[in-house]
Amino acid sequence: MNSETVARTSILIVDDDIWMARLILQRLSGEDYHIEYVASGQEAIAWIEDHPESIILIDYLLVDMTAEKVINSTNKQDGLMEFIVMTSIEELKIAVAMMQLGAFDFIVKNPEFLATLPTVLKKVERHLAIRKQLKISNAQLQVLSSQLQVTQEEERHRIAREIHDELGQSLTAIKLDLSWLKGEVPARLKEMIDQTSELTDRTINTVRRISSHLRPNILDHLGLLAAIEWHIKEFNRHSPIVCRLNSRLEEVHLSDNQSIALYRILQETLTNVVRHSEAQTVTIDLKKQDSQLVMNIADDGKGVTNAQLHNLDSLGIVGMLERLRPWNGRVTITNRHQGGTLVSARLPWQKSGTVK
Ligand SMILES: Nc1ncnc2c1ncn2[C@@H]1O[C@H](COP(=O)(O)OP(=O)(O)OP(=O)(O)O)[C@@H](O)[C@H]1O
Ligand SMILES: [Mg+2]
Repeated sequence: MNSETVARTSILIVDDDIWMARLILQRLSGEDYHIEYVASGQEAIAWIEDHPESIILIDYLLVDMTAEKVINSTNKQDGLMEFIVMTSIEELKIAVAMMQLGAFDFIVKNPEFLATLPTVLKKVERHLAIRKQLKISNAQLQVLSSQLQVTQEEERHRIAREIHDELGQSLTAIKLDLSWLKGEVPARLKEMIDQTSELTDRTINTVRRISSHLRPNILDHLGLLAAIEWHIKEFNRHSPIVCRLNSRLEEVHLSDNQSIALYRILQETLTNVVRHSEAQTVTIDLKKQDSQLVMNIADDGKGVTNAQLHNLDSLGIVGMLERLRPWNGRVTITNRHQGGTLVSARLPWQKSGTVK
C-alpha cells in the first residue's frame, strides 16, 4: 500500500486546561497525526461519534463530567477508539476503574509525561491496527461462512432432488417390472421375486429418508412451521426423549434462506439433545416478540459447560451460532436455572418476511 493512501491516525485531546492541551499539541507537532482539541465531555462525545477510529487523550476531571461518562457513552458504539485517561494525581482506584471500563491506558500528568507521550501513542496505534485487522478478518470470515452455508444448502437441495427423482423413479420402475415378472416366472421363483420386491420397498423408503434429511420437501412446499412439526413427529418416532411444540403462530412467512437456517438450527439442536443431553423432554417454543421471531429449544438434561461450547473439535454449535448473522439475528446457548440447556434463536422481522 502506498504510504499516501494510509489514513493518518485521529487524536482528540479533551482537557479544560487549555495550556495543557497546547503543551500536548506542541509535543506531538512533529508527528504525522490528525489532532483536534475540545474542552468538554459533551463536545468529546459528539466528536467521537464522527470519528469512530481514533485515540482520545482525555483528562479525568472535565468541566461537565468525568472521563468515565465519556467512555461509558461510547461503549455501545462499534467503533475502533481507544482512551488514554490523564489525571493530575496518581490515583490507583481511578486507574483501575478506567481500565475496567475499557480505557487503554492511564497516565499521570507529571513532568515526564510529555516526554513519554509519543511512545504511549505508538503503542496504542499498534494495538488499534491489530484490532482493525481482526475486525476485517472477522467480517471476511462471516461473509465466507454465510456464503459456504448458502452453497452447501444449494448443493444439498440439488442432491436431495436427484436422489428423490432419479433413484425414486428407477426403483419404482423396478418394482413394476418385478410385479410383471412375477406373473411370468415359474412358481419356485415367485418367492424370490417377493423378497426382491420387499427389498425394493425398503430401499425406496431409505431413499426418501435420505432425501428428506438432506432437504425436507415439506419446507419448500408447506413452510417452516409444517417442517418443524414434521421433524418433531419424526423425532418422537425415533427417540425415547419426548419433544413438544408450543407455538402461538399460525403462519411464518420467511425467505427460503431464513427458513432453512432456522430449520437447521432446530435439526442440530435436537441431534445434540439426543447425543449429549441425557434429557427426558425437550420443548420448542415459537413466538413473535419485539419484532423478532423467537425459537427457544429447552431440554431438561445435564446442561452444557463453557469448555464444551468452545471445543474446537466440534462444529455443530459453531455453525449454528453463525446461521442467523446475515440478517442480524442471534443464537445463544445457556444453561437453564432448573437444569438443562436452552438454545435461543432470534431473527429480526424483515421486509422480505412476515410473522403472524
Ligand atoms: N443439549 C446439550 N446438552 C448437553 N451438552 C450439550 C448439548 N448440546 C451440546 N452439548 C455439548 O457441546 C458440545 C459441542 O456441541 P456441537 O454440536 O458443537 O458438537 P458435537 O455435537 O459434539 O459434534 P458435531 O460437530 O457433530 O455437531 C458437545 O460435544 C456436547 O458436549
Ligand atoms: Mg452437534
